[in-house]
Amino acid sequence: MKKSISDFLMDSGMHPAQVNMDECSSALVSEMRAGLAGENSSLMMIPTYFSAEDPIERGGKVIALDAGGTNFRAALVELGESSVSILRSDVFPMPGSRGAITRGEFLDEVCSRIEPLLSEADRIGFCFSFPAEITPERDGRLVGFNKEVVVEDSAGMMVCAEISRRLEQRGAKRPAAFVLLNDTIAAMLGGMVSARAGDTIGFILGTGTNCCYSESGSNIKKLDCPSGSMVINMEAGGFAKLRRGRFDKELDAQTANPGDHIYEKMVSGAYLGKLILLTLQEAARRGLIPAAEELFARNELDLVEVSAFLEKRKGGVAAEAAASICLALIERAAKLSVSVLAGIMRQTGAGKDLPATIAVEGSVFLKAFSFREFFDKYAHEYLTRKLGRSYSVLTLDNMTLAGCAAAASMTAGQ
Ligand code: BGC
Repeated sequence: MKKSISDFLMDSGMHPAQVNMDECSSALVSEMRAGLAGENSSLMMIPTYFSAEDPIERGGKVIALDAGGTNFRAALVELGESSVSILRSDVFPMPGSRGAITRGEFLDEVCSRIEPLLSEADRIGFCFSFPAEITPERDGRLVGFNKEVVVEDSAGMMVCAEISRRLEQRGAKRPAAFVLLNDTIAAMLGGMVSARAGDTIGFILGTGTNCCYSESGSNIKKLDCPSGSMVINMEAGGFAKLRRGRFDKELDAQTANPGDHIYEKMVSGAYLGKLILLTLQEAARRGLIPAAEELFARNELDLVEVSAFLEKRKGGVAAEAAASICLALIERAAKLSVSVLAGIMRQTGAGKDLPATIAVEGSVFLKAFSFREFFDKYAHEYLTRKLGRSYSVLTLDNMTLAGCAAAASMTAGQ
């Protein structure tokens, strides 16, 4: 990277070298502990009432639903003894992602996706990429939609119970089991049914970001569950004890929820493109890259476009200067996400005896240009060399659908 660009990123507090992985992972551990104790914390640390040790009953078909920021998937999954088969999988736009809808409209749309599958299976695992408080029955009380999905009056909705009631009202049969699980838990369980070794961390880095892991009951001070272990949905995107740069703050001020989801806004697909755009615009104002008209005409930049630009660039001084800014912010995102995983491993001791499995899904992790190389570099440098932990990264097709099937099959085994 040219010195002038490096100085600019340093002055703005956006340089990857300004992320201190020790400091960041220690701050995460403190926030995790505060969240587990029910004290003030930027991490919700949501108990899920799933234990990584619960037996999973295999065999039989299960309906797997997957609600994300953009898509809603409805699938029929069969969990065999040693394999997972996706018998059918249909993708629809996420209800509420193309303009506000009412709670009733949301419920009807979801029911209409479930009904054609109910003749095949009566257990449902619902992978939900939004914060929800999980009840001991494994239903979820919605905290609120995010990632631009708008469903009026939906906060507080008991998701599975309300959908079941609506199904009955519509003349369909009530599912025998219906469980809600965060997408991180679905990735974790999907990873566990496919490859089991040591502790598994569920990690999503796509439109949004989040992690889950297995915590020992005695550490979950806000619950009365001293024995065994329970999977915790950290809502890690909310992590706020981070040093932010100038453009992190500018971007945050322009979002619908300023001050919220600080970490998510530094690393995830919904924001990283825009963060790169703001940084490029200022670099152009300072004459570090050409002040192209198109750069200033834009208000949004998709990370997919950034990756395409980085892939296709053919050298040239101007392209290289812009590329080095894009790469620096992708590198910073990778370094931050390794720091978060390091915090989890420090809290749990994962990777000390057996290698920890990091079960990952998400477009930034899987597709953003060079993200994986940066991730591997920092994971090696910090997790392996500094902390002395071993780990393996697990990415599988349909991991979250398999996780939904596993979750619904755990309930059946109770
Ligand atoms: C949501 C989490 C989710 C994550 C990854 C965040 O915006 O709050 O519940 O796990 O995105 O999809």
